Amino acid sequence: MHIPVLQKEVLQYLDPKPNENFIDCTIGNGGHTLAILEETSPKGKILGIDADEEVIKNLKTQPRLFRKRTTFVCDNYVNLQEIVKKYKFRPIHGILFDLGMSSWDLEGSGRGFSFLKKEPLDMRYNLQNPLTAEKIINYWSAPEIERILRNYGEESLARPIARSIIELRKEKPITNTSQLVEIIKNYLPRRFQQKKIHPATKTFQALRIAVNDELNNLEKVLPQALAVLKPGGRLVIISFHSLEDRIVKNFCQSRSSIDLKILTKKPVGPTAKEIKINPRSRSAKLRAAVKVSITL
Ligand SMILES: C[S@@+](CC[C@H](N)C(=O)[O-])C[C@H]1O[C@@H](n2cnc3c(N)ncnc32)[C@H](O)[C@@H]1O
Repeated sequence: MHIPVLQKEVLQYLDPKPNENFIDCTIGNGGHTLAILEETSPKGKILGIDADEEVIKNLKTQPRLFRKRTTFVCDNYVNLQEIVKKYKFRPIHGILFDLGMSSWDLEGSGRGFSFLKKEPLDMRYNLQNPLTAEKIINYWSAPEIERILRNYGEESLARPIARSIIELRKEKPITNTSQLVEIIKNYLPRRFQQKKIHPATKTFQALRIAVNDELNNLEKVLPQALAVLKPGGRLVIISFHSLEDRIVKNFCQSRSSIDLKILTKKPVGPTAKEIKINPRSRSAKLRAAVKVSITL
């Protein structure tokens, strides 16, 4: 079960009112959508997007999501402007992004997102995506693997890990998460096996970002989100690592003297109480902004 992160703060910054329309670009288990629907009753609508067909199928069976007021779309949010046009979804009072993976991806999808389980090396949100983690690990060159581990995982041991992968895959294909975890563990000098985070954390993050092209998608969608919002409409983005947060921060700053007013000078994080109830919220950072009309 996925517990929505920063739920109270999402409502505070999106500020939904009766009969307003919102887009949830990463609807997942629908936790945030449900809260917004309650505030926008009786006629407010939600366009809920998710790249994962299984997620959308599951949502369609859930009566709690007030299906009359929610349209579910299985697509990549990178196509936001096209989706809005196709569904003639206007006016848009707010757009939410709750980035990355859900608890279901990690614990229930069986797609190799977790280094604590033995599963196939897949890591796709959208199963139509031709690229999997297994393909990267078994077919990409050492410099390419090193590049993603460094750029997307901020892994200081990108080179030795990439080299170990290349050596081991000569013996037999690396097809599951446990094999990859063993490679990382066995080939890292003991002093690098930090106590606080699992030694495979950064490699798994890097692979997931690369497989799903997460940073490029985020960069491409933010201007589209701003374009489709009505003046006075709000943009709320929850990210889970510094690379995503940097993209959001830079985008907001670049538009802040044009058509965006930043509502969160610093990113908003979870309270100690929320972290205790939902440890996954630990690294969440929320940024919010409101679209302003340009007066010439
Ligand atoms: C953190 S979960 C969202 C959880 C949701 N807010 C809730 O309360 O249940 C992120 C979701 O975004 C989806 N996702 C990730 N990247 C996507 C993309 N580029 N386009 C559409 N959906 C995406 C994932 O499949 C996942 O279901």
